[in-house]
Amino acid sequence: MCIVIATSRMSSKIEIVSTVEELRRKISSWRKKGFSVGLVPTMGALHDGHFSLVKKSINTTDKTITTLFVNPKQFGANEDLTIYPRDEVGDVAALDAKGVHLVFAPSLKEMYSADFVTEISVPGIGDTMEGVFRPGFFTGVATVVAKLLIQTLPDRAFFGEKDLQQLYVIKRMVTDLNIPVEIVGCPTIRESDGLALSSRNIYLSASERTNAASLYKVLNEISHGILNGDHINESVAEAKSKLLNSGFFKVDYLTVCGTKNFMELNFLKEPAYVLGAAWIGETRLIDNIKIC
Ligand code: PAJ
Repeated sequence: MCIVIATSRMSSKIEIVSTVEELRRKISSWRKKGFSVGLVPTMGALHDGHFSLVKKSINTTDKTITTLFVNPKQFGANEDLTIYPRDEVGDVAALDAKGVHLVFAPSLKEMYSADFVTEISVPGIGDTMEGVFRPGFFTGVATVVAKLLIQTLPDRAFFGEKDLQQLYVIKRMVTDLNIPVEIVGCPTIRESDGLALSSRNIYLSASERTNAASLYKVLNEISHGILNGDHINESVAEAKSKLLNSGFFKVDYLTVCGTKNFMELNFLKEPAYVLGAAWIGETRLIDNIKIC
């Protein structure tokens, strides 16, 4: 348990628990009073994107729980687990101000005992795009989200469309495992130049930050081009070279996918998304928009 939990408990009305037992006891007391429960899972370092999910939960359920847990199982060996931004004191204060009722901030040991082995994988949807460039990522996400959902059994759980493939993976898992929770997707919150808010944006230098908005810009250009009859492959190739000429040094993917089963499309024959992931400096950014 970290110090923030003790200090915040003394000064605020938000409650903070770090064990599944305490979490379930609290939820059970709410359930006895007939309250509905909303869950907003996060890895902390909260920003207005996270707070939009919190707001939706507060507006649509009686009690809102936010989880703060940097899940090591979704980070690859060469990824930023050790430097991932952490600000529990600031996060708890902000969640308190937003009216969140309970924070669940478990330790690593509480979530993964030394003999923990179970994994949930979601092949198909989880194998493309992020699944190709971050092997094991969606298994880590699905496993931790399944645990959080089973630990809390909320009425609704809120996830951002910013991580669209993650949202699809979670919806598939919840359907397949008959987890009795409604998964609610929430729109991407952006800076004024279009850059999607992300905890990782703090890694960007001033010039990278300026150039980072190009990702959203080229997603829109692909969308407009395709709607005006351009071939998907040509629009994507043009967008890729634009990104590489505007400060990005590597494009992992720019892909057009159908909204129904998330399969890659070569021709626009159904409602679709365009999704992209690209590197600027040391930072990997992802984003997506709906083609409409
Ligand atoms: P994290 O990156 O902290 O994001 C928590 C939630 O906030 C996710 O549902 C994400 O899609 C949403 N979010 C992030 N940026 C957003 C933005 N700009 N607009 C709207 N929503 C945004 O995603 C994770 O954590 C983890 O994978 C998690 C689901 C918690 C499992 O560990």
